[in-house]
Amino acid sequence: MPTSLEGKIRARIRDEGPVPFCWFMETALYDDEQGYYAKASFTTGREGDFATAPDTGPLLGATLAEAVASFAEEPGRLIEVGPGSGRLMQDLLTTLDPDAVGKLEVVLVERHEQREEALAERFEDAPGQVRIIDEIGELGPARSFLLANEVLDALPCEVLQRTDVGWDRLYVDFKEGSFIEHWEPASDELVERLAPLQDLPVGNRYETAPSLRSFMESIEQALDPGLALLMDYGDTFEHVWPRRPDGTLRGFHDHAHASPLMHPGRTDITYDVDFSRVQRIAEHTGLNVASFGAQERLLVHLGLMRIAKEQDDLLTAKQLLMPATGFGARFKTLVLDHGDAAAKANLQVDLDDPNLWDAGLRDIQGR
Ligand SMILES: C[S@@+](CC[C@H](N)C(=O)[O-])C[C@H]1O[C@@H](n2cnc3c(N)ncnc32)[C@H](O)[C@@H]1O
Repeated sequence: MPTSLEGKIRARIRDEGPVPFCWFMETALYDDEQGYYAKASFTTGREGDFATAPDTGPLLGATLAEAVASFAEEPGRLIEVGPGSGRLMQDLLTTLDPDAVGKLEVVLVERHEQREEALAERFEDAPGQVRIIDEIGELGPARSFLLANEVLDALPCEVLQRTDVGWDRLYVDFKEGSFIEHWEPASDELVERLAPLQDLPVGNRYETAPSLRSFMESIEQALDPGLALLMDYGDTFEHVWPRRPDGTLRGFHDHAHASPLMHPGRTDITYDVDFSRVQRIAEHTGLNVASFGAQERLLVHLGLMRIAKEQDDLLTAKQLLMPATGFGARFKTLVLDHGDAAAKANLQVDLDDPNLWDAGLRDIQGR
């Protein structure tokens, strides 16, 4: 009988002692055979453990298509990193007019063979040519529009906790039939690389992905010129971690919160994205921040209200806008630019502009 993922992790703990949480998360989500995201059956929405914004329906894709259409006035590449079920790209391609699709080379980036096969099946009859690869690094530089929805929050993270004397690092141990937390002092090297620039009260936790830097570097190398539209849970550092002593690490199983340590391979593990660190790293790699703010504001700027009215779909617009029940302001969009591509796609925008909502309302009033 093949060893279960839980068995694999327990064997390593038995042989080597507690494992760093980042290794646990990498294994639980991306183990080649049994990782949560490696399985061909992985999906989001009603049949999955959680829903993402593309699962609300075609309105998100139709709204983002406005920006892609402006970009596609010239030939280029449309890339989606971590497309999951592929729903967002499918909605985009069916909304765009065939002339625009004809100018685009579409590339989907997913990490596992089984998932690539599932995507190939889904896109068999899609308009345009769709190429599926497993790493952004495989792409050479070209004029590109890159999208990633809820991918940054799926990069395996380290968890640090502020102590009187420095930082502890989270490890995972196995005792009395369960995976449990185990803390040890973090090395100076890890603290230097990952601890936040601003301090936290003693006891507060902080999560961030060591692989974020190489992820951003490979994005930067692919955009020549180009833009990246990154959408995710999270906010700037000061809006999240000083206010969340327990940090933001969480698990999802069957549409309910679950311990991130329970049922590795069958539970999604995620956390809020520290957009301060993402912006710092992006700028360091040579990308410019073209806009940052609540996702709902970017969607309104791109014409969400008008499109929702045209499609008679104000209910989905409400789901994308409402803070409490929907995706609303808890989601942020970060647009990164390399060589002035964001302005051409109408994505160079001040999302704090107080007139933005008025313009959205005028959209539905037809004025
Ligand atoms: C939470 S799911 C989001 C799926 C989809 N974007 C959506 O919004 O429904 C995260 C996805 O990112 C993928 N992923 C994570 N790291 C990746 C990487 N370095 N390259 C490509 N895909 C990655 C995972 O395999 C998974 O499909």
